[in-house]
Amino acid sequence: MLLTNCSLVSMRDEDPGVIRHAAIAVDGGTVRWAGAAKDLPASLSRNNSVDMEGRLVTPGLIDCHTHLVFGGNRAAEFEQRLQGVDYAAIARAGGGILSTVRATRAAPGSTLLKDALGRADCLMAEGVTTVEIKSGYGLDQDTELKMLRVARAISEQRMLDVRTTYLGAHALPEEFIGDPDAYTDTVCIPVMRRAASQGLIDAVDGFCEEIAFDADQIGRVFEAARSLGLPVKLHAEQLSHQGGVALAAQYGAMSVDHIEYAREPDVALMAQAGMTAVLLPGAFYTLGETQRPPVAAMRRAEVPMAVATDCNPGSSPLTSPLLAMNMACTLFGLTPDEALRGMTINAARALRLPDRGQVAPGLRADLCVWDVDTPAELAYRIGFNPLHQRYCQGEPSWKP
Ligand code: NIG
Ligand code: FE
Repeated sequence: MLLTNCSLVSMRDEDPGVIRHAAIAVDGGTVRWAGAAKDLPASLSRNNSVDMEGRLVTPGLIDCHTHLVFGGNRAAEFEQRLQGVDYAAIARAGGGILSTVRATRAAPGSTLLKDALGRADCLMAEGVTTVEIKSGYGLDQDTELKMLRVARAISEQRMLDVRTTYLGAHALPEEFIGDPDAYTDTVCIPVMRRAASQGLIDAVDGFCEEIAFDADQIGRVFEAARSLGLPVKLHAEQLSHQGGVALAAQYGAMSVDHIEYAREPDVALMAQAGMTAVLLPGAFYTLGETQRPPVAAMRRAEVPMAVATDCNPGSSPLTSPLLAMNMACTLFGLTPDEALRGMTINAARALRLPDRGQVAPGLRADLCVWDVDTPAELAYRIGFNPLHQRYCQGEPSWKP
């Protein structure tokens, strides 16, 4: 297949921001060639061509941080927060993540899957071709495994690549209140081993926060992950500074996520350890936070910045990658170009998936065709979806 007559945003360092009058040759789910049409090798010009009518083509979007699988919803907490009760206070009173844990434990896998597919469809309709999905609303063996299986099942039912992350260290379940060490050692780590033995985990995450787990407990979880050969990442410095970035750096984490309260020395550690910073403006917006992540310092230190929806029922009920990009610009001061990099090449970095995130020979043919003229329009509009077509491994699949 040959896509002709498009404007290409390849995200390759060697290419300009937009290549006008471009062509892309796709072969067996992989990009064979991409560049200015005038340079197209003659041997490829005989492919079945599809006229893009001047539209903009970018890499498929990658949502590198979501909690897409969960039971119930937290609309009642949204109302409480609007009355002035804060997120941490709701969590301490047994609501928040724990209320979703109750709903997720009670829900049959079929219900979790149906609801998660609805959310996955929203992401796909705005161009997502790869999504990371975390467990962490089970906090017991059966429910954590159920969540991971549901996450994997999504990729069997949709043209969407799913990467699963074990987040057993998300919150302390009610039955262990007062004894986080016992939960960590007798549930969180053994369940991780079980899930890994069943091939259900691509990475391990934790929530290092006053209302969740401390650096010692997360350290034990990361040790166990290391012994299983699983890469780690961390919800770090979201609501307060807990030393999560420093801990993640020690374990060579793929990414540190949220990081509103990260400081200059943390940024230096991110750069040294080669970690990607994952910005989650949906949670910042929903919780009405005021402390912004250290974007200027990360730019100076050349820390790659990814952007994700953090889709979850509490702090970020967001299923729009384009709105996440808009919020990253409006709330955190990213440029539209940085926001698009954040959902393509840098999101691929955050997940350590070098086979995607750019339009380049040898990489997956995950592409978005947009009815816009410039890449900045993607982050600029609010509540408007200009996706014309989505290709996942070369297959056109706009509609699920
Ligand atoms: O990424 N920070 C912790 N975890 C989620 C929120 C989960 C929830 O509130 O249900 C987050 O914001
Ligand atoms: Fe999260």
